[in-house]
Amino acid sequence: MKIAPSILSADFANLQRDVAFVEKHGADYIHMDVMDGQFVPNITFGANVVKALRPHTKLPLDVHLMIAQPERYINDFVEAGADIIGVHVEADSHIHRTIQLIKEKNVKAEVVINPGTPVCAIKHILGMVDQVLVMTVNPGFGGQQFIEECLIKIKELADLRAENGYHYDIQVDGGIVPETAKRCKEAGANVFVAGSYIYDAEDPAKQIACLKEALRG
Ligand code: DX5
Ligand code: ZN
Repeated sequence: MKIAPSILSADFANLQRDVAFVEKHGADYIHMDVMDGQFVPNITFGANVVKALRPHTKLPLDVHLMIAQPERYINDFVEAGADIIGVHVEADSHIHRTIQLIKEKNVKAEVVINPGTPVCAIKHILGMVDQVLVMTVNPGFGGQQFIEECLIKIKELADLRAENGYHYDIQVDGGIVPETAKRCKEAGANVFVAGSYIYDAEDPAKQIACLKEALRG
């Protein structure tokens, strides 16, 4: 089980410090939410921030692109030092080509589905991807409530993986706290993004420990 703190809820004036803190306290990935104000109604940062953080952590940088036509920027994020690049199937008319492009660059390729998107929309590329991200909120903002209906899709993805011998990790993102993380784990998820639960708390180290505890066993 892996924990991926989302820096969306970190202090943007102290990103280096906030990344180092979660690394020290047991984070497995650093989740970076890139938003363009078009695919989602919010704007965050681009490849230059990935590049700026790259020398300051040994953890894999897990870059979640919430941008329209993500194929235009894959190269920039690869060069910036991303280890995993996630693209939304809803944002890309040529998802197969974009996944291929990411893999050609020797970066882990992830496909992402919104809460309203069924698993069948990505069925034909599941053999190609290293990770599938099941959004458990509608993307754009931190601190939203977990959407229960997404659990069934996690189970469906775990079943398809077993039936077909696929190898992808199943990541969940949005509204993750110990109880929701536990339920996602039971459904088959193994990578857990958490933003506000970790960074908005008084003691973020304790929050990481609580998440790990909930996922133990
Ligand atoms: C939402 C982002 C998330 C966000 C999660 O669009 O993709 O990564 O940071 O935030 P929480 O954990 O607060 O729901
Ligand atoms: Zn995210």
